[in-house]
Amino acid sequence: MNQPAMQGLDLQVPAFVKHAKLIAWVAEIAAICKPARIHWCDGSQEEYDRLCQQLVDAGTFKKLNPAKRPGSYLAWSDPTDVARVEDRTFICSQKKEDAGPTNNWVAPAEMRATLAPLFDGCMKGRTLYVVPFSMGPLGSPIAHIGIELSDSPYVAVNMKIMTRMGRAVYDVLGAEGTFVPCVHTVGAPLQAGQKDVSWPCNKTKYIVHYPETREIWSYGSGYGGNALLGKKCFALRIASIMGHDQGWLAEHMLILGVTSPEGKKYHVAGAFPSACGKTNFSMLVPPKGFEGWKVTTIGDDIAWIKPSADGRLRAINPEAGYFGVAPGTNYHTNPNCMATLDKNVIFTNVALTDDGDVWWEGMEKDSGTLPDHLIDWQGKDWTPQIAKETGAKAAHPNARFTVSAINNPALDAAWDDPAGVPIDAFIFGGRRSTTVPLVSEARNWVEGIYMAATMGSETTAAAAGQQGVVRRDPFAMLPFAGYNMSDYFQHWLDLGKKLGAAGAKLPKIYTTNWFRKGEDGKFVWPGYGENMRVLKWMIDRIEGQGQGSEGVMGITPRYEDLNWTGLNFTAGDFNQVTSIDQAAWVKEMALHAELFQQLKHHLPQELEDTRTAIEKRLAA
Ligand code: GTP
Ligand code: SPV
Ligand code: MN
Repeated sequence: MNQPAMQGLDLQVPAFVKHAKLIAWVAEIAAICKPARIHWCDGSQEEYDRLCQQLVDAGTFKKLNPAKRPGSYLAWSDPTDVARVEDRTFICSQKKEDAGPTNNWVAPAEMRATLAPLFDGCMKGRTLYVVPFSMGPLGSPIAHIGIELSDSPYVAVNMKIMTRMGRAVYDVLGAEGTFVPCVHTVGAPLQAGQKDVSWPCNKTKYIVHYPETREIWSYGSGYGGNALLGKKCFALRIASIMGHDQGWLAEHMLILGVTSPEGKKYHVAGAFPSACGKTNFSMLVPPKGFEGWKVTTIGDDIAWIKPSADGRLRAINPEAGYFGVAPGTNYHTNPNCMATLDKNVIFTNVALTDDGDVWWEGMEKDSGTLPDHLIDWQGKDWTPQIAKETGAKAAHPNARFTVSAINNPALDAAWDDPAGVPIDAFIFGGRRSTTVPLVSEARNWVEGIYMAATMGSETTAAAAGQQGVVRRDPFAMLPFAGYNMSDYFQHWLDLGKKLGAAGAKLPKIYTTNWFRKGEDGKFVWPGYGENMRVLKWMIDRIEGQGQGSEGVMGITPRYEDLNWTGLNFTAGDFNQVTSIDQAAWVKEMALHAELFQQLKHHLPQELEDTRTAIEKRLAA
C-alpha cells in the first residue's frame, strides 16, 4: 500500500487498512494538525492496557487498588472541562432553517474559516490516534462506521469501551466503505520541551457538525459527549439527520426488556433528559411485591429505531458501553449498576479513597457513614468537616464511569442482536419538582407526540451552565436533534401515520415524572426500583387490563390502579405526586405556546390543534 509521508511524518499505515480515501483523509488531517506521530488503533486488549499505562505515566490516570477495583482507573479533568458545552455546539447546515431555532447555527464556510486557524498545528507534540469504530454490531445492516482522529489517548481508551472499536472495523469498511469522519483535538499543542498537563484542553471550545457532508469537528474539550464523538455527535446529531432522510429514528433513549412471572416479555424505550434517570431505569431491580418480574438492559442512553417488515418499530443500542452518572448511584438506588462497576472501569471526576478506591456522594447510604478522608475530584483533601463548612463535593455532580455493557449483570440476551427488539411503549420523562404528574398515558399517537414535544425538565450538571431551571426539552433531544425541531416532530408524526396506515399496532406513549418534591424540598416518590410500580401499570394498559381516569393530560392511574405491596405509600402521598394544579397548568400551557411560537416554522398543525384542545379542556 502506498504510504504518503506528510511533512516528514510517516503515516505508518498498517497492512490491515486498505481504504485509500481514508488514508488520504488521515494524511490531510495530519497535515493540518501536525501531530508528532500517528497511532492506528487496533482495539486489542494489549493496546488498551498500554495506553492506560501511558495515561498513568502522564498523570491523567491513577490506577485504582486492584484488590478493591481490578483493572480500573481514575481520571480528574481540568475543573473547567467537566460537561457538555451546549452553547459551543453548532449545527452548520447550508441553510439556517435546517438547523432550526433550537440549535446554534453558523454557515459552514464561515465555521470552516473560524476553525482553520484553530486546527492548524493543534496536535503539535502529540500523537494522533486513528480510532475506527462501529455504532451498532459490527457488520450488521443497521450499524454505521465512524473514524475518530483524536490527540487524546483518554478518548481512545474510552472509545474502546463505548463502541465496537478496532481492527475488525477495517474489515467491514473494506476498500471503499463509507464512514463518518470525526476530528477531535484537545486544542493544546505542545512546544518542543514543554511539559504536558494531566488534562490538556482549551478554554475555547467548538463542537461542530456539518449535516450535509456528515462531518464532526470538535475542538478544546476532552470530556464526555464533547470528545467521545461516536456518542452524541454521531449516534444522535448526525444519525438523527440520517434517520430523517432514511425513515428511522435516532433517540436519546434507554431500552429495556421486562419479563412477567408468566414469561411474557415487553420492550420499552424511554427518553429522559441528561442525568434524569435513563441508566437507573434501564437497570431497574423490581421491588417487593413484584416477585418473578425481571428487567433487563438493552441500552442506557441511545436508541436507533427502525420500522421492520412487520410494521413494528425495532430498537437497537448503537453503543457497547455506559458513560453514566456516578453520584447518586449506590446499592439501594441501583444495585445492578454497582455490580457493573466492580471491575475494568474508567472513572472520571469521582473522589479517591485512602485505600485506593473510588467514592461519590450517595455511597454513604450503603456504608451508613461518610468516609473520614478522601481526595476530592480536584485533588484536594476532603473530610466530612470540610464538606460541612464549605459545601465541597467529593465528586463532581457530573462525575461519570465508563464501563463495558458486558459487565452488567442485568444485560439483556438480545442487547447486541442486529435485529433489535420490538418496542411496546415509549416513555418521556422530565425532571419536574412541581406541576407534572407521576405518569400519564397519551390517548393516541398525536397526543403522545404532543406530550413529548412539550416536555419540560430542570437542567442538570450534565451540561455546563445554570442548573435546576425548567426548560423545554422536546423528546429529551433539545441538545441532540441535528436538524430543525419542527421537522423532527413531523418525522415522528409521519412515521406513526405510515405504520398506522399499514395496520401496525403503534407503541403506547407515556410521560413520567419521578421528581415531584414536597414542601420539605424532598422527592415524594421513592423512585429507582419503585418505578416498577408505574412500569407494571403501563404493561397492564398494554394488555388492555389496567384502569385509569381520563384527565386533561391523557389517562392517569388512580391510587387503587397501582400495586402497593411492599411499599408504604399512602393515598395522600400519591395525591402529592399526581395532583393537577389548575393555575400551574395554565402557566405550563403558556410555556407550551411559547415553545410553539419559537418553533412555528414547519410546526405540524396537529400539534397546535392538540394544544388548543388541551387548553379548552383545562378551561372547561
Ligand atoms: P445521561 O447519561 O446524562 O443521559 O443521564 P441518565 O438519564 O442516564 O441519568 P442517570 O440514570 O444516570 O441518573 C442521573 C441522576 O438521577 C442520578 O443522580 C440518579 O441518582 C438520579 N435518579 C435516577 N433515577 C431516579 C429516580 O427514580 N428518582 C430520583 N429521585 N432520582 C433518580
Ligand atoms: C448526556 O449528557 O446526555 C450524556 C453524557 O449522556 S455525555 O456523553 O457527556 O453527553
Ligand atoms: Mn445522555
